[in-house]
Amino acid sequence: MQEKIKDIEKQALAAIEKAATAAALEEVRVKFLGKKSELMAVLKSLGTLSLEDRPQAGSLVNASKSIIETTIKEKMTALLQAEQAKKIEAEKIDVTLPGKGIRRGRIHPITQVMEEAKSIFLRLGYEIAEGPDIESDHYNFDGLNIPPHHPSRDMWSTLFVSDSVILRTHTSPVQVRVMEKRKPPLAIIAPGRVYRRDSDATHSPVFHQLEGFLVDKKVTFGDLKGTLTEFLRQMFGQNKKVRFRPSFFPFTEPSAEVDVECVMCSGRGCRLCKETGWLEILGSGMIDPNVFKAVGYDAEKHGGFAFGMGIERIAMLKYGIDDIRLFFENDIRFLEQF
Ligand code: PHE
Repeated sequence: MQEKIKDIEKQALAAIEKAATAAALEEVRVKFLGKKSELMAVLKSLGTLSLEDRPQAGSLVNASKSIIETTIKEKMTALLQAEQAKKIEAEKIDVTLPGKGIRRGRIHPITQVMEEAKSIFLRLGYEIAEGPDIESDHYNFDGLNIPPHHPSRDMWSTLFVSDSVILRTHTSPVQVRVMEKRKPPLAIIAPGRVYRRDSDATHSPVFHQLEGFLVDKKVTFGDLKGTLTEFLRQMFGQNKKVRFRPSFFPFTEPSAEVDVECVMCSGRGCRLCKETGWLEILGSGMIDPNVFKAVGYDAEKHGGFAFGMGIERIAMLKYGIDDIRLFFENDIRFLEQF
């Protein structure tokens, strides 16, 4: 009996010595001190001993048990301390390391210019309206005084969905849609994407326009000039010269192309303005009576002006970009510059 107890104790101490982690040590504890351990079996079997042998054997078991217990306790404390120290070491943060930079996103230059143009007109009291990108030829052409088969349809290289459904070639159809639904006075801008079968360094099959129009009882060409001059000066600089040149659009009469003094050479003539000193920015004019008639307005009692500009073109001139395709490639080396 005595030998057996000493043997268990020896085994236990060896196992404790070997245990390298707190979890392993806990297993040792269960094995040697738990309810199903050999030591407990010995304790239970004491009843079979003679009365005089019992006390001695009992105290031997208890002595071994207490040795094993204290050894485990001491080892456990040491292991837990070591594990804690290891964990702290592993989680140590080197505060002298350089940080990881967070890459900030940027607003796309086209969105920036569009927002800037919109906010100028919003400050002037205009409100925003929108229309669909996929448009009927009625709104894109007929309603704008461009009858079927009229040669002026060739002004826009149209992309067709079907015979009568197209991708809108300009934002002007929004004029018709708004006027159909609402009565004057109106001061509206219509931002959006437009589509043309066109692609080179200065033309993209999809680009953005900002349309604007104003209808009231009496509107003069002077109102148009004042409004667009104010817009262009806010956009390109307060001291910039602005020029109105006669032009043609089926939905405006008279029509004018509006130029701003070249941003690069200030009118002296350079590569950007093709030596003219002027940059062509937008198309405009007084709304044609036929457009009013088509929406049921009395052309005798109402007047209005309208204008449309290409946002990519303005962005290219403002930032000196010579290829429109850069806006659509989403190369962050380009986009990060804005
Ligand atoms: N819609 C014309 C275009 O895309 C621009 C324009 C709008 C001209 C309004 C006059 C009035 O070319």
